[in-house]
Amino acid sequence: MAEFAVFQIVIVSAFLFGLRGQTVTVNMQSSVYSNPNTDLATLRCDFGIDDPTFSFLTLEWTFGSTLIADFFKTTTPTYYDFCNTPAGRCSATRTSSNSELVLSSLEFPRDQGTYGCRVTYVSGSQTPNKQNTSSLLVVVPAALVTLFNASGGTFTNGSVVKLSSEVSEHIFTCQVQNINPEATFTWTLDGNPVDSGLISNPVHDVGADSLTTSSSNVTLEPKREYGGQELKCKAVNYEDDPGVMISVTLIVDPCDPNPCYNGGTCSVMSDGITATCECPTGFEKPLCETKVPTTTSTTPPEPTQPTGTDGKPTTVPTTPRRTPPEPTQPTGTDGKPTTGK
Ligand SMILES: *[C@@H]1O[C@H](CO)[C@@H](O)[C@H](O)[C@H]1NC(C)=O
Ligand SMILES: *[C@@H]1O[C@H](CO)[C@@H](O)[C@H](O)[C@H]1NC(C)=O
Ligand SMILES: *[C@@H]1O[C@H](CO)[C@@H](O)[C@H](O)[C@H]1NC(C)=O
Ligand SMILES: *[C@@H]1O[C@H](CO)[C@@H](O)[C@H](O)[C@H]1NC(C)=O
Repeated sequence: MAEFAVFQIVIVSAFLFGLRGQTVTVNMQSSVYSNPNTDLATLRCDFGIDDPTFSFLTLEWTFGSTLIADFFKTTTPTYYDFCNTPAGRCSATRTSSNSELVLSSLEFPRDQGTYGCRVTYVSGSQTPNKQNTSSLLVVVPAALVTLFNASGGTFTNGSVVKLSSEVSEHIFTCQVQNINPEATFTWTLDGNPVDSGLISNPVHDVGADSLTTSSSNVTLEPKREYGGQELKCKAVNYEDDPGVMISVTLIVDPCDPNPCYNGGTCSVMSDGITATCECPTGFEKPLCETKVPTTTSTTPPEPTQPTGTDGKPTTVPTTPRRTPPEPTQPTGTDGKPTTGK
């Protein structure tokens, strides 16, 4: 009786096992970048089955629906047409649990696409199989990065760019052309990340040759705090890419708007960020805001916060001013009051 019961359990469990089936697992990285320095790409496929009574039958590598190499019961691959143009550009290896396919002489866009690995096991008449895929990105790195403004004026690397306060928004566009895949951008000011609110989402245009031009904008107001800072754009388009970068030094004109009161004439000192005021008779430096103390009987002009038609202070600048100065103590880019000589 006892033997009969054991026999029954074996039959029942075999029946359940047969219903459940075997699970073949095939794992691949979802995307793989080619190495633009070596022109090689390595695709890896890890596989297994949860039932040791099954043995390995075959592993097939495909590009789209084209068979490129297979291992039928062996560890020696057979290569197909794809691998013969040019000859020898595929090299595949296999163990009992993984296979690697190394592709060389890569060409964009020819070799970019979906690569599959299908593994089949066998036991009696059962041949369970599973496929997984990776998308290969054939990297075309950026050769050049350019920086230009909204009217198309391009800036050379390391140059000095004035943020005029005549313009309320200065748009800088950073662009890399003819790359694959698209780039991501990092903007910094003196090494610190630029506030994300000032950066637009990058735009990626794909040309007829399938290569991409990626662009990113940063919009800066002419704030004095930007004076003397280095604005840098870095573009990266693949894993481990050192990236390409370009930078400019921003200057903000300290005479724009005019910090001088009472019709003082502003000029920029040689450092490019400090203003100095030339005051009319009767007013004192640094900002011509104070009346010269007098001992004579002649009456000097009353110190004024001269007002324009809009009621705001105005000046007699040498160049037209968009915004007259506020009647406050102006500060230099370093936060200290600007000083005269
Ligand atoms: C493909 O492989 C990944 C692991 O790299 C795994 O998460 C995924 O489930 C696999 N897909 C299939 C269909 O087996
Ligand atoms: C763009 O840069 C050029 C060259 O520096 C300059 O002449 C032009 O005024 C700038 N345009 C804007 C909108 O800033
Ligand atoms: C950048 O700004 C310019 C000028 O306003 C605009 O034409 C262009 O589409 C913008 N580009 C991006 C990537 O936002
Ligand atoms: C700009 O200059 C920096 C520093 O010299 C350099 O690393 C970078 O490659 C240059 N970029 C371009 C586009 O020439």
